[in-house]
Amino acid sequence: MTLTSSRPVAESALDVHLSGVGQRFGTHQVLTDVDLTVPAGEIVSILGPSGCGKSTLLRAVAGLDSPTNGNVTIGEQPVSGLDPRCGVGFQEPRLLPWRTVRANVELGLPRGTAKSDGATRVTELLRLVGLTSHANNRPREISGGMAQRASLARALARRPSVLLLDEPFGALDALTRLNMQELLLHVHAAHPSTVLLVTHDVDEALRLSDRIVMLGRDGDSPTAPASVTGIHEVPGDRPRQDDDPEILALRHRLLAQLGVHA
Ligand SMILES: Nc1ncnc2c1ncn2[C@@H]1O[C@H](COP(=O)(O)OP(=O)(O)OP(=O)(O)O)[C@@H](O)[C@H]1O
Ligand SMILES: [Mg+2]
Repeated sequence: MTLTSSRPVAESALDVHLSGVGQRFGTHQVLTDVDLTVPAGEIVSILGPSGCGKSTLLRAVAGLDSPTNGNVTIGEQPVSGLDPRCGVGFQEPRLLPWRTVRANVELGLPRGTAKSDGATRVTELLRLVGLTSHANNRPREISGGMAQRASLARALARRPSVLLLDEPFGALDALTRLNMQELLLHVHAAHPSTVLLVTHDVDEALRLSDRIVMLGRDGDSPTAPASVTGIHEVPGDRPRQDDDPEILALRHRLLAQLGVHA
């Protein structure tokens, strides 16, 4: 594998490659001709108007749905069916209410993990996301931000080559959201896997990602198929300054593409 970057990359981080991906549900063509390569170890955000197919795209990479056209490969191997190389975090934490936080995180361990290895890994992840003292609580006893952290730890438990996050911080208050963004960068520094992050939030995308992929529809109709309309490299290294003129200029362009004239 050739890497063009000097960034640390987890041994297991893999490129994600989409080629001519299309997704149709019945007669509704949601995505068409999506071509995208995400280099191993990068954090890439996916932005686009509501309903344009961002979650659909993520589901195709995870192998939760198989696309009607084209193909997805991770590393050298095609994705077919739920892919064990991916860890997925959803907008809502989706924890099992009757299980403790620790037991929920354990659910993310790959099948066949030796008991003692699994216990060590879960202990380490709980520490990483700051939930050690809540390991034995049930989901109803913890806050929304804590539940989201538990969900992130569960996604990381399989040591994914590719971490897929679908608006993971969307439901959180502004302060918790900032803390979670910090946590994601911390986690990525510790385990630099390839991250695809769907977000509605331009500032979040600018803060976190190496590259921003814009999905958009061809035409004004809300049912027109969407495709990649732009890929923007985010200037500078993290942590980024919100008031950097280059970042501000890109922010302006992205908002304009989303139809927001700030
Ligand atoms: N399983 C499915 N069956 C039928 N239609 C679907 C299915 N999944 C998604 N769609 C349709 O595909 C389109 C894109 O949905 P998707 O959830 O991917 O959008 P999104 O960009 O993630 O939107 P949002 O920003 O609101 O989360 C929508 O019109 C949705 O109704
Ligand atoms: Mg969505």
